[in-house]
This record gives sequence, C-alpha cells and structure tokens, in this order.
Amino acid sequence: MLERTQVGIVGAGPAGLMLSHLLHLAGIESVVLERRSRKYVESRVRAGVLEDGAAEMLRSSGVGERMDREGLVHGGIYLQFGGERHRIDFMDLVGRGIMVYGQQEVVKDLIEARLATGGDVRFETEVRRLDGLGGEPSISYLHDGVERLLACDFVAGCDGAHGVGRMSLPAGSHAAYERVYPHAWLGILARTPPASEELIYARHERGFALHSMRSPDMSRLYLQVDGADDPGSWPPNRIWDELRLRLNEPTLQEGEIVEIGVTEMRSLVLEPIQYGKLFLAGDAAHIVPPTGAKGMNLALADVRALAAAVAKWYMSGSSDGLDGYSENCLQRAWRAQHFSAFMTSLLHGDAAKDPFEHKLQLANLTYIARSRAAATALAENYTSAATGVWGSS
Ligand code: APR
Ligand code: PHB
Repeated sequence: MLERTQVGIVGAGPAGLMLSHLLHLAGIESVVLERRSRKYVESRVRAGVLEDGAAEMLRSSGVGERMDREGLVHGGIYLQFGGERHRIDFMDLVGRGIMVYGQQEVVKDLIEARLATGGDVRFETEVRRLDGLGGEPSISYLHDGVERLLACDFVAGCDGAHGVGRMSLPAGSHAAYERVYPHAWLGILARTPPASEELIYARHERGFALHSMRSPDMSRLYLQVDGADDPGSWPPNRIWDELRLRLNEPTLQEGEIVEIGVTEMRSLVLEPIQYGKLFLAGDAAHIVPPTGAKGMNLALADVRALAAAVAKWYMSGSSDGLDGYSENCLQRAWRAQHFSAFMTSLLHGDAAKDPFEHKLQLANLTYIARSRAAATALAENYTSAATGVWGSS
C-alpha cells in the first residue's frame, strides 16, 4: 500500500523540524525524512544566535523552556578595531536583544518535542527523488537499503545547502543569484570560559575574528582563514595566539578544543523558492555568510510563513498564502543578504594585501562607533527590529 501524509518534509534541521512542529500544532500531519542519524544532527555544531522574535517563536510554540533556562540573553555586541572596543547597545538603540543558544540545542529541543507527541521523524532515511510536483507529489526515499515511496499533498524542501529539494526545481523555472567569498571561517568550540560577556566582532589587520560562547565554560571562536586552508595547518597554539591577537584579548585562556571545522562563506538566493507543490525553506532556498548571524533566523521565519500558508489552505481552501510564499520570504532573505554582505565586507580582509580597503573599513567602523544613526542601523538589522520579520512585538 502506498504510504501517504499531508506534508512530506525533507531534512531535520531547524527548518524541517520547526515546520513539522508548527504543522502539528495546527492539526496537520507530516513526515520528516532525514538522511543522517539523530546523533549526528544533534551534535552538528553550527551558529548560535536567535533574534528576539525567533526566540519568542520557540517560546510561544512551546519549545522554548530549555532555551530560557540555558540560553544567554545579550543586550548588545562589541566591535573591536584599531586597538579599541566599542559596544553597540541594542537594548538602548532598538529595545531588543538577542538570545545566544546553539543551533544544535534548538534541533535537540525540536526533536524531543516532535517525538513526545508521536511525530514521525525518520533518521537515516535519504530522499532520492521528488516526482509529480506539478500535481500529485511523491517522495522516493531509501531506508535500510529499501527504496520506498511517500505520497503527500505538499513537499517541503528543508534539506539545506546541498539537498535534493533545490535540485528538483525544473531547469528554467528559477534564477540563482550567487556570490562566493574568498575567505572562510575556522570555527572552534572550546572548553574555556568566555573572555567577554557578549560577542566580540573584531576587525584586525590580519583578518576577522569572532568571540562567541555557549555557556559560562564553553566558548565558540572563529578566525577568518583562507578559503583553501586545511584545518590541519592550524594547530592549537597557532589558533590561540591568533585569537588573542585579533580579539585583543591577551587573557583568553586556552581550553580543550572539542570541535573544529571550516565554514565556507557564500551567498545564494533562488527566485522563486517554490514550484507547484514544492516549497523550499531555510538553507535550501537561500544561504548567507555567517557574519550577520542570520541563517537559523531566516530558516525559522520561512517555516513560520509556510506553516501558516499550508494551514490556511487546509482550513479554507485558499491558496493566497501559498501563492505569495516565495515573495514573502524573499523580501526578508534579500534584506538579510544585504546585511550579511555588509558585515562581511566591513570586517574581513587582509590589510597587507589591500591597505586601502582596510582604511575604508576603519573609517566605517569609527563612524558606527560615533554615530547613533549608524549604530542604530546596525542594531536594527542585527536584531531584525524595524525590518518587519517578526511583527512589531
Ligand atoms: N534526504 C534527507 N535529508 C537530507 C537530504 C536528503 N536527500 N539532503 C539533506 N538532508 C538533510 C541534512 O542532513 C540536514 O540535516 O537536511 C538537513 C538540512 O538542515 P540544515 O542544513 O540545518 O538546514 P536548515 O534547516 O535550512 O537550517 C539552516 O543551518 O547551515 C545552517 O547557517 C545555516 O543556521 C542555518 C541553518
Ligand atoms: C556563533 O555563536 O556560532 C555565531 C555567532 C555570531 C555569528 C556567527 C556565529 O555571526
């Protein structure tokens, strides 16, 4: 017998899991198909900043309890440049802060919530092909070496940067806008107390560095490296020396490096992000460089819109929300692209290779540090205050 569900969801990252959770709250059935194991997705270290509105979305949908207990509420960030440190006070400038809480913690909380209410989340299940997207969709997937078919009303491609969702858009049905940056981030998760109570974004002659954190004894640290660098060329001593220098934090304590990885820096937007009964969300639809901390926030905002549009269709038969899904998400995605590209170009580079660019960056950073209007623009974009993403609350 052919298996059936209302919404077939490819991918158990924040987008796919949150979509399944929101649909469940609206009384709509879904199946989440994830090619990796549960352990893998729960331990994959990614970014960790939630905008206030995204944190509120977790809370109001009943999955914010651990975040409120363990997450770190910050009222601003620091910019470090030219040997000085300036605080951008988000609370004062725009009345909103951010929540620092690892993406894999959000993923763990969502998996637990889905399984606690009988949700159908299948790990180690790889989607191979999507068919019938113009009419009666079906998903071919492989589980335990057996290929099966899942029929559904809608397919949500929440399968990230390299998934099958994006590949299933017919040629000529969409445009892809892309920019690849020459840099990458070397990221480490280290067992050491954060040297600062809030994030430090540093512009140094030798390149960018970022100090973030996960808890009072875990720090998350990043260094701009060359896109082609092998993490093997970064032994711990070199990492710690470079972090202390770029962050101007001579007291940053070394600690056990529990995870190390290189994050590529790229921008991509597909237009439109839907075709027939297929709707893309999160990284499947758009990718931002990590400097603006927007990836997880965009993914959550997409699925909030998608869940509402699907619920409207089931409740009233109206396809208004579904028809407008792509346009609705892309406005937000382009705003985030602009901000992420701005933060990336403001903070990255190599003064030895391009001293003129470095001077321009210092001039702009000084302006942001001195001008309330410029600092407010940064704060509005970082927190998504005034950009209409999460409404006016
Ligand atoms: N079949 C099943 N699952 C798949 C397939 C496939 N063919 N292809 C990819 N997947 C899974 C991946 O294993 C991954 O777990 O889809 C999931 C996509 O999750 P994410 O990459 O976390 O993407 P998303 O939910 O959109 O979240 C975006 O992730 O990369 C960060 O910065 C980004 O914070 C942002 C967030
Ligand atoms: C993180 O905490 O991992 C983090 C914070 C801010 C960013 C990117 C990543 O811009």
